Amino acid sequence: MFETLKAQPADNILALMQMYKDDPRETKIDLGVGVYKDATGLTPIMRAVKSAEHQLWEAQNSKSYTGLAGDPDFGDALVKLVLGDAVRRANVAAAATPGGTGAVRQAFELIQMARPDARVFVSDPTWPNHLSMLKYLGMTIVPYRYFDEDTRGVDFDGMTADLKTAQKGDVILLHGCCHNPTGANLNATQWDAVIKILQDSGATPMIDIAYQGFGDGLDADAAATRKVAASVPECLIAASCSKNFGIYRERTGMLMAVSSDASAQKLNQGTLAYLNRQNFSFPPDHGARLVTMILNDDALRADWMAELEDIRNAMLGLRSQLASELQRLSGSDRFGFLAEHRGMFSRLGTTPDMVAKLRDDHGIYMVGDSRMNIAGLNAQTVPILAKAIIDVGI
Ligand code: LMR
Repeated sequence: MFETLKAQPADNILALMQMYKDDPRETKIDLGVGVYKDATGLTPIMRAVKSAEHQLWEAQNSKSYTGLAGDPDFGDALVKLVLGDAVRRANVAAAATPGGTGAVRQAFELIQMARPDARVFVSDPTWPNHLSMLKYLGMTIVPYRYFDEDTRGVDFDGMTADLKTAQKGDVILLHGCCHNPTGANLNATQWDAVIKILQDSGATPMIDIAYQGFGDGLDADAAATRKVAASVPECLIAASCSKNFGIYRERTGMLMAVSSDASAQKLNQGTLAYLNRQNFSFPPDHGARLVTMILNDDALRADWMAELEDIRNAMLGLRSQLASELQRLSGSDRFGFLAEHRGMFSRLGTTPDMVAKLRDDHGIYMVGDSRMNIAGLNAQTVPILAKAIIDVGI
């Protein structure tokens, strides 16, 4: 029967990982997949994670099942980390998922269950897997303008004009912070305008927050998500712990459905548990337990926050270094946006041909839409990248 299968399109980001691996050049630089790397190129296990793992190994005496929505303590801890005191805990249904991707997928399925004809508005561009999963599920995608190719900032007029066409029953997918793939983000005033559109249209926001703590800080990065959740009757939030806890392969994430009253919460909670059961039954526990231990222990939490802050500042330092190096080499400010962007990524804003030239001539790997993972750089490779960008004529 399997001879009927058709080859599926390769995921660009994952295909690039393989191309990089296969490149024998020692000088190659990987700015592809969104994984944090320190100055030595290692994706380190964070200190607090290592300590929590040690404690867990000593104390854990069973690996029996938890709950379909995961351990309730994880729910409490992560809801608090993402939403703070913005909404009542009793109004939030929360289910652990395999990573942030799992949360996004469950959110899409929840939307489909509730409203089979819902249109999902997505930023143009967005994380390619948003589109891939929506297509796979046969859902209707409506792109909204987001990136201004000239300024490399947000095309806010285009964005709001497009979002105003959304209606009740539609979903607007927003990146809570650190927009992937562009690195261009809304400011607080612009978020307020988006909230007004949500309120006026009755469309439901879905926020993907995968990089909390990588942009302007843990609370600053969650501020928009909190404000949206507090301002509309219903909201979905897909949160990832992969990046801010550095536990990529543990698959730790959570889908939250925020509603304006506790009876809706009960129905949502039951539905999230049901959806987990259909797709994978119990969610992975190891990463979730580590996160819970870290967030609920003062010393571990303080250490985690300090290390996360170091990571964030290291990325900001690389951004400034790259922007000033390019200013020096180009004699212009046209790369200043690199210092303004936030999170792991910046979209350079060049053609796929130039991206291929950087790869072929200089061994520099970035995604075809010119998304660079800033964390793939270090103080020594920034000047190499800057020179290559100028050399190929960007
Ligand atoms: C990325 O965008 O590079 C990350 O979110 C990893 C992934 O799964 O694509």
